[in-house]
Amino acid sequence: MNPKWWKESVVYQIYPISFMDSNGDGIGDLRGIISKLDYLKDLGVDVIWVCPIYKSPNHDNGYDISDYCDIMKEFGTMEDFDLMLKEIHLRGMKLMMDLVLNHTSHEHPWFQESRKSKDNPKRDFYIWRKGKNGGPPNNWESYFSGSVWEYDEATDEYYLHLYSKYQPDLNWEHPEVVAKLHDMVEWWLKKGVDGFRFDAIAHIVKQQGLPDADNPHQTTTVRAYEMFSNLDDVHTLLQNLYDKVLYFYDIMTVGETSGLGPEQALDYVGDGRRELNMTFQFEHMFLDAASAGSGKWDTVPWNLIELKKVMSNWQTVLHNRGWNANYLCNHDQPRSVSRFGDDVTCRVPSAKMLATFIHTLEGTPYIYQGEEIGMTNVAFDSIDEYRDVETLNYYEEKRTSGVPEAEIMRAIHKKSRDNARTPMQWDATEHAGFTEGTPWIKVNSNYMEINVVQAMKDPDSIYHYYKRLIQLRKKFKVIVYGEYRLLLPLHEEIYAYTRTLDNEVLLVILNFFGKEPIFEMPEGLDLQGMELLISNYEPRKGEDLARLKLRPFEARVYLKKL
Ligand code: NOJ
Repeated sequence: MNPKWWKESVVYQIYPISFMDSNGDGIGDLRGIISKLDYLKDLGVDVIWVCPIYKSPNHDNGYDISDYCDIMKEFGTMEDFDLMLKEIHLRGMKLMMDLVLNHTSHEHPWFQESRKSKDNPKRDFYIWRKGKNGGPPNNWESYFSGSVWEYDEATDEYYLHLYSKYQPDLNWEHPEVVAKLHDMVEWWLKKGVDGFRFDAIAHIVKQQGLPDADNPHQTTTVRAYEMFSNLDDVHTLLQNLYDKVLYFYDIMTVGETSGLGPEQALDYVGDGRRELNMTFQFEHMFLDAASAGSGKWDTVPWNLIELKKVMSNWQTVLHNRGWNANYLCNHDQPRSVSRFGDDVTCRVPSAKMLATFIHTLEGTPYIYQGEEIGMTNVAFDSIDEYRDVETLNYYEEKRTSGVPEAEIMRAIHKKSRDNARTPMQWDATEHAGFTEGTPWIKVNSNYMEINVVQAMKDPDSIYHYYKRLIQLRKKFKVIVYGEYRLLLPLHEEIYAYTRTLDNEVLLVILNFFGKEPIFEMPEGLDLQGMELLISNYEPRKGEDLARLKLRPFEARVYLKKL
């Protein structure tokens, strides 16, 4: 089973700008994080993943870095960082940095140099091309709407940016770029950080020659993900990074790799690959997308049988060969309880059921800030209240093409990344206790009811349920390493599975919806002698153990020793 600390850990993700503000400027900061470390320790988390905190003009909340070795001034100073790291370690926790190696900010000195002239020594640190037929060099569409190419008058050429025009892509074919990035990664490791989440790492290599993508409808730009996702040379570059730098440190690494299935993921995380420990997969995040090519904004209801198919495939393919990173939410996704649960009539039971799911699969569970108190999506009335560059660009593009306002806002309410970026709800005081100033983005109006103080007081809260789940993981190896087997693959409401390790069997039964289906015990399984480890409801007295009538969003985890 190849035990590792990062397999046994629970990760908590912090989006610093929205976590805790210590100085009243309305923006979360490092001192704010330090002030909440006891809270995280008490929750039981082992690793804290902090989204980018480097110097940045903040066009994409820090995912546009202008100095890799400095701290964003709004977040604090390098002294604050050193103190944060020390305080995390003092509490026996670890720190995973979020590192953006695919692109920098347009304000990074490398890019400032690069754009000056065609013969500048830093010119080829980025990807520059001449235009074609009076337009951009190819038809690729950026993740944040529009072309991936931005015209730069100074040299009459275009530079490539897979994200916003303020995030020019680095040229990983340039040995000096690679060497400088390696040195920088090592610089952070020497400071004592415990790992990295490598942002957009699947995209560091682009198709040779940057050819046009197929464009059957002759649109101005097309989604061309296959031109810049998970290409073979990404692995050569990652192995090089591993052999030269990562190998020498006992750290945890996770890559953000959209657009792949588990077999392909093994190229990144397979034992013996010398690349990464795990990757974030996106297949389950696209189950509510209307069609493969339509992107994230056009949605359809997701389907449980499909979810089982996707998750089970990852569970079985990676077992004994790699490792999963399990999540339902992060700073780029809607709130999990609003998307996969019911945030109106069953918020508490459904949030607990989803937590049970993520914490009982094989893989490392990731909790996104606020998920542990069941924070929900927001629906701001006006686009003026949104801050996310992706959302604003989408709005602009749709307005320009004549889509009615109400239709655009409907999509934004469902899918905007700002759903997960509203300030952490600490208490019922003004601005949810997040800041004494004016928050950079509005607080969700439900903070009087949903907040940490309330959750800590209530022994039946989602928060206390998370604590128990985390403790169980530390107690039972079968939760970490047990082999997964899906039960009832075609049941439309119940997701059930077993996990087996040596003489222990874990049985997980999850009712994913608000009705009361019957769970018929499959042959070979028997609840006699099983211990109920955790559930989001009181056990029913005198129930028929062969036919369990589940309550809305009920979750039960049983353990049996053979
Ligand atoms: C993925 C990050 O999670 C997202 O927030 C960011 O906008 C893009 N990569 C670009 O760095």
